[in-house]
Amino acid sequence: MCGIVGIIAKAEVSGPILDGLKRLEYRGYDSSGIATIHAGRLERRRAVGKLQALEQTLRERPLHGAIGIGHTRWATHGAPNVTNAHPHATETIAVVHNGIIENFAELRESLIAKGVAFESETDTEVIPQLINHLLVSHNMSPVEAFQGALKKLQGAFAIAAIFDGEEDLILCARRGSPLALGRGEGERFLGSDAYALAPFTNRITYLKEGDWAIIRQDGWQIFDATDTEVERREQLSDAASALIDKGGYRHFMAKEIHEQPEVIGHTLSAYIDPVARKVTLPDRALDFKNLERLTISACGTAFYAGQIAKYWFEEWARLPVEIDIASELRYRVLPWPKQGAALFISQSGETADTLAALREAKAHGQQIGAVINVPESTIAREADACFPTNAGPEIGVASTKAFTCQLATLACLALAAGVARGHIDAKREGELVDALLEVPRLALEAITLEPQIEQIAHELAQASDVLYLGRGVSFPLAMEGALKLKEISYIHAEGYGAGELKHGPIALIDEKVPVIVLAPDDRLFEKTVSNMQEVMARGGCCLLMSSAAGIERAKRGGAPWQSLVIPDIDQALSPFVYAIPAQLLAYHTALVKGTDVDQPRNLAKSVTVE
Ligand code: G6P
Repeated sequence: MCGIVGIIAKAEVSGPILDGLKRLEYRGYDSSGIATIHAGRLERRRAVGKLQALEQTLRERPLHGAIGIGHTRWATHGAPNVTNAHPHATETIAVVHNGIIENFAELRESLIAKGVAFESETDTEVIPQLINHLLVSHNMSPVEAFQGALKKLQGAFAIAAIFDGEEDLILCARRGSPLALGRGEGERFLGSDAYALAPFTNRITYLKEGDWAIIRQDGWQIFDATDTEVERREQLSDAASALIDKGGYRHFMAKEIHEQPEVIGHTLSAYIDPVARKVTLPDRALDFKNLERLTISACGTAFYAGQIAKYWFEEWARLPVEIDIASELRYRVLPWPKQGAALFISQSGETADTLAALREAKAHGQQIGAVINVPESTIAREADACFPTNAGPEIGVASTKAFTCQLATLACLALAAGVARGHIDAKREGELVDALLEVPRLALEAITLEPQIEQIAHELAQASDVLYLGRGVSFPLAMEGALKLKEISYIHAEGYGAGELKHGPIALIDEKVPVIVLAPDDRLFEKTVSNMQEVMARGGCCLLMSSAAGIERAKRGGAPWQSLVIPDIDQALSPFVYAIPAQLLAYHTALVKGTDVDQPRNLAKSVTVE
């Protein structure tokens, strides 16, 4: 989603702002812009599309000045065109904004009634217009006008503003969307995250919810929501080392797929004692023993990780699980249990719907757990117990390594819950721990299927619709596989529970609709394979993913179009190794189609609006 960068320096800033914006590209955007102050006057440049377009505009019409703000916009209100691109400005002020101003229509109407003319269709434009109105008509100072405007704005947002004639002042505020401040030698920076600031400084101070700040070249003052001046802790960020090269891969997504054996191992090592063959949770964990019910919620890929975990919590811990996508859960009128816990899964820790669902569960007295990849994120901070996934920064918009690391953390949690509730004895715990410790090696083995997958991708790329089928833990994985394919190759794909095939989707089957069957050699294998045969009997072409033995058995009923031999693994843990070929299949199909793999159209990495 939208990204913000701001700099007050000793030298020209438009180049460095552009560098910072490039580091925010991974979040997804469709236009961009920069405003600076030069010789006391505000100036701005904006462009539609990728940052190269803005770079070109800046070459043609350079932007000078040692103070400026920049923005990548992911359109919410109004099409991605130059007029709607940020910064939005009046003669006195330029503003960049991430998030949504919920009461913009009302504010806009009242400003129009006072004679203010609007240029764009955005919700953002009410911010500079409102501040400008307070500056001009109410004769306020920039700080007073900014404070005054903040009090009128409703919604979740991060904003930064610069003022005509003020070459040593950036004002910014955080309500809902994160903002990080960075300290350099005689320079100050702000950005949507520490990655944006990595080229300039690793000394980062995160604003807390409700904070706003006055930034000058030699320092800043931070105020909380009650306008009381506060100190916020500076931390040393390692974002610079974590980013930003692709490690020799063509795309971040490829690098991230290949990192999985290592990062899954890294995640498991935080929760497993390999010598004692036991799972160990952080001190502040959830009280699984006395739970009546666990509620799980998330969005997108993280939601599918949660759906797989539901099977684990039910089977290993005999714990009833309620699971829903966060955009639904946040508005449901649920009967919440007295002894309940709720678990929220999020790579970024900033997803607006997941955060809102967390707050809803908290308001109903649930213990809150969070499975999070960004430890300093809002969701991590608001949870009672935080369970990190050690995937490292994930830059590709389509989630891969964060997903399998979420599975690693969730498997350990479900196992710990099973032990705490007396349904997993020491022997079974030891077996499952051993099986989990095998996952990194098996993940590496699954990656060796890549050349074969590349071949299959050439054919899959010809399809306009693809179905994925699975049962048990492979059902959510079928949905995740379909999501990966549609996100990055733009081929329409759906995941179904294999048993549901007859209840509708079978009507779609013909030789042009490939069906990808995820059939680990488990107790549901025969059932899934008979669903595959129903497809083949109707001329459908199937790609079967199973163990070597499974594929041999399945062939007795007729050979599928293609098969992929997936490494053998403990039945319950099959999603770890089946996820990887599904990711690689989507990746190589997208390569054949020539789409933008790391930043697919219309998608955002961190969805900070509802
Ligand atoms: C977006 C991303 C997905 C991600 C989802 C949830 O839609 O494109 O890859 O799964 O948000 O994000 P989160 O950061 O909460 O895991």
